[in-house]
Amino acid sequence: MKVEDFQKIVEEFIEGIVIMDESRTITYINKKAHLITGWQVGESVPYCSYCQLREVSEHEERCILANDNPLPSFRSHIPNYVNTETDFEMSMNKLELAGGHYQVLTIRNPSQITQDEKVKMQELLIHETMQAQESERKRIARELHDHIGQSVYSLYLGLDGIRRHVDNPEYTERLDKMNMVMEGTLACLKRLTKELRPQLFDNLGFETALRSSVDDWQRLYNIDFSLNIHIPEDLKFKNEEGLHLYRIIQEAVNNALRHGKATSIMIEIYKVDNELYFQIVDNGKGFDIDKLNGTGLGLRHMRERVKMLHGDIKWISEEGGPTRVEGYITV
Ligand SMILES: Nc1ncnc2c1ncn2[C@@H]1O[C@H](COP(=O)(O)OP(=O)(O)O)[C@@H](O)[C@H]1O
Ligand SMILES: [Mg+2]
Repeated sequence: MKVEDFQKIVEEFIEGIVIMDESRTITYINKKAHLITGWQVGESVPYCSYCQLREVSEHEERCILANDNPLPSFRSHIPNYVNTETDFEMSMNKLELAGGHYQVLTIRNPSQITQDEKVKMQELLIHETMQAQESERKRIARELHDHIGQSVYSLYLGLDGIRRHVDNPEYTERLDKMNMVMEGTLACLKRLTKELRPQLFDNLGFETALRSSVDDWQRLYNIDFSLNIHIPEDLKFKNEEGLHLYRIIQEAVNNALRHGKATSIMIEIYKVDNELYFQIVDNGKGFDIDKLNGTGLGLRHMRERVKMLHGDIKWISEEGGPTRVEGYITV
């Protein structure tokens, strides 16, 4: 078939096709895409409203479809000259031709998307959301520690300095009280920072971070913890796997304390072949999982995290307790 014939076919596609070069300059646009966007050859493709606003790390592409592990398709509002209010589905393929690297942007009406694509897209979006949540937690933890924490600490020291030069008993008593409030605030900040981002995580890895957190929880809540970890010392978690597992355990412990009012919690983690099994058992008052109305985000996030790590999770509990959360991830 001749090139011109191919061109005619693409020209009449019911999907919009835009071909752009590496600098996002349009080298080809078919009728449908022009109709939807009003863009023309030679112009550069603007970012959709989602990508314009999203937070992007240093080496990441702003366009969510241009990343290494792109979404199969993505729904957002396209900045255009024809003032449509609809969101469109977009997907992108990279093309390497003799003349260089190109990107082919396909624009569709939302109804043209398949069920399979929907599922995959949802999973990837959840993944994105969780990663964004982790980086936001990290940022807040850093701010709390480096900024607010340091300021409160210098106030605390300043106050202590003044206290030593005050003789008037009425004022020393007041200063002592202020001192106590400050100590409480510092302890609270420290706890919050650790919960947001276990400090040790970045340097020492999963096991050390978990052991240290369990020590903190034990001291803080004054309950019995037993922690059994049987994983090879040289086990390396990929990317954020360890952090996901840590968050699962953290949520299970929080639930046991908050909802179950547990006085004893057992955590066990062990490796069999390529699977890492975990269970968290509490002696709290339990719950009937069938009666949950599905509003809690905690359990949902735990499910989504194990799914991302190619595993599974279940809750074995009944009213009156105990509760066992058990599952595995693939490592
Ligand atoms: N270990 C537990 N002991 C008792 N109840 C629990 C436990 N874990 C979960 N639940 C119940 O499941 C519900 C949903 O939990 P979750 O999704 O974490 O939401 P949240 O903690 O925000 O309420 C809780 O409100 C509670 O009723
Ligand atoms: Mg919860």
